[in-house]
Amino acid sequence: MMSAVPTRLVGLPGSLRKESFSRATLASLRGSLPSRTSLEILSPELPLYNEDEDGNHASLKVRQFRNAVANSAGLIIVTPEYNHGMPGVLKNALDWASRPYGKSVLIDKPVLVISVSPAFTGGVRAHAQVNETLLSIPARLVGGAQVVIGNVTKKVSDGVLDQSFLSFAMQSVNRLIELSRSASALAAIGALQ
Ligand SMILES: Cc1cc2nc3c(=O)[nH]c(=O)nc-3n(C[C@H](O)[C@H](O)[C@H](O)COP(=O)(O)O)c2cc1C
Repeated sequence: MMSAVPTRLVGLPGSLRKESFSRATLASLRGSLPSRTSLEILSPELPLYNEDEDGNHASLKVRQFRNAVANSAGLIIVTPEYNHGMPGVLKNALDWASRPYGKSVLIDKPVLVISVSPAFTGGVRAHAQVNETLLSIPARLVGGAQVVIGNVTKKVSDGVLDQSFLSFAMQSVNRLIELSRSASALAAIGALQ
């Protein structure tokens, strides 16, 4: 069920590369969203996590990142795989988002994870690691078909994801939107009580 309430999503690529397929995938998804739904693509470029530098004096970049996630209805992570795992830059961003303990902006946040790779394996091992980290927080993972995009170099051209994979990924994005809307509605009811 799609509602008339605007839904603000944020996207997080697991790559800093200028021509990143992960960011291109997020940009393609943004172009296919239903009406009244937006997607802001965040940068994972944050200082290395240091507990001594966390808390009220955390850097402006970190506070802005946490606020962007907090003010969103849901998050889409698109990650490559580095050495059979998630890239350090993504793990670092998730570590910042995971704190303060028990008050993380990701607790109960609906999150869809997508992995991309030039290999046919599609980054499936990085995908599993990201899920594991999100479960520890715990965020609310979108289940169902695992969206892994193998042979991505052949599926993105001029920065746009191939239509058949876009349609496949959009089925999960639409589930994320529904989950985000019901989570936001429940939070609004809770705030009224
Ligand atoms: C350090 C490093 C390790 C990599 N390890 C893997 C890997 O284990 N599995 C894989 O499928 N691709 C691996 N790749 C290839 C990346 O998936 C590929 O460079 C991808 O396009 C990076 O994502 P991006 O386009 O979003 O920057 C690796 C690339 C780098 C730079």
